[in-house]
Amino acid sequence: VTLATHLAGTVDRMLSAWRRHRRLAPVRAAGPSAVSVDSYWTQHTVNSTPFSTAEESERYLSWRFEQYPLFREYMGLWGDHDQEVVLDYGCGPGDDLVGFLLYTGARKVIGIDVSSRALGLSRGRLELHKIDPARYALAQTSDTAVELPVQSQSVGYVNCGGVLHHTSRPDVILHEFHRVLKPGSVARIMVYNRNSVWFHLYTAYIRLIVDNAFPGLDADQAFSRTTDGEHCPISRSYRPSDFLGLLKTAGFDAEFVGGYLSLHELTCLDAYGLRALDDPRLANEHREFLQTLRRDERGLPMHAGMHAGIGGVYVARRT
Ligand SMILES: C[S@@+](CC[C@H](N)C(=O)[O-])C[C@H]1O[C@@H](n2cnc3c(N)ncnc32)[C@H](O)[C@@H]1O
Repeated sequence: VTLATHLAGTVDRMLSAWRRHRRLAPVRAAGPSAVSVDSYWTQHTVNSTPFSTAEESERYLSWRFEQYPLFREYMGLWGDHDQEVVLDYGCGPGDDLVGFLLYTGARKVIGIDVSSRALGLSRGRLELHKIDPARYALAQTSDTAVELPVQSQSVGYVNCGGVLHHTSRPDVILHEFHRVLKPGSVARIMVYNRNSVWFHLYTAYIRLIVDNAFPGLDADQAFSRTTDGEHCPISRSYRPSDFLGLLKTAGFDAEFVGGYLSLHELTCLDAYGLRALDDPRLANEHREFLQTLRRDERGLPMHAGMHAGIGGVYVARRT
């Protein structure tokens, strides 16, 4: 029995045990039920059309980097993961799974997601690329789960892009990342960045004021309607200090790398930046944010010395 087979078996066994016994009632005072997180993401899988060729799937990875300046750099993709076990939490339809398996020497890549549909798409894509099944394991979780189906201190790297801001208990998941990581190893996590053009210009000005799209909602409430579909049950943005606090509580030594940009934010800034500053209807918090933006040498906006895009990236070291 190879270590890889052993790990796959362990994942399966832990998953069954955890499915039977380890469920928590969702801890939330109000709002959508955690079950709706699972079902929403099963119905609204990102990129739900399967790729027809491996080339098409691979081309999509390059296209994705072009849509988000600094995404690749800040998420450290694909990095050096020779012989490592990599966990991609909230793997979706498998972009990063495919990338880690094609472009790194990772021994094993584990993909976990709440969406059976996303996991099915991931599996189909890995098969399209003819990747050795011994190099990957896929497991379904639930938003209510309190334990990941992964052994303690068995993982060398956690990648988690665009997931934790959709979950009921990001604190529980961060503790789990800490448990499964080997001491000294790292998690790279992206959560939506409140210090962003998306939040202060696109949401607070364009959607709320110009479009009057969400009467009665404040900017945080409106934000959650602007990212992953209007009915996405949970979509938060974090101030870096708040997310760093969560990481610290989970036991990590962490830093905020910056917010990578979407091309959409750059377009909004060019089209509406000046108009927003002149508009008396814009609340001071948002105006002050826009006033303090500075452009780097590539023209990308920065706030307080950090890039001001929606993709807030954190590097968290397990001590
Ligand atoms: C915006 S997609 C990001 C997918 C992928 N990480 C990427 O970068 O392309 C968010 C993913 O998080 C998953 N998700 C939502 N809540 C989750 C939870 N509590 N635990 C694990 N995955 C979750 C969704 O099913 C979805 O695949």
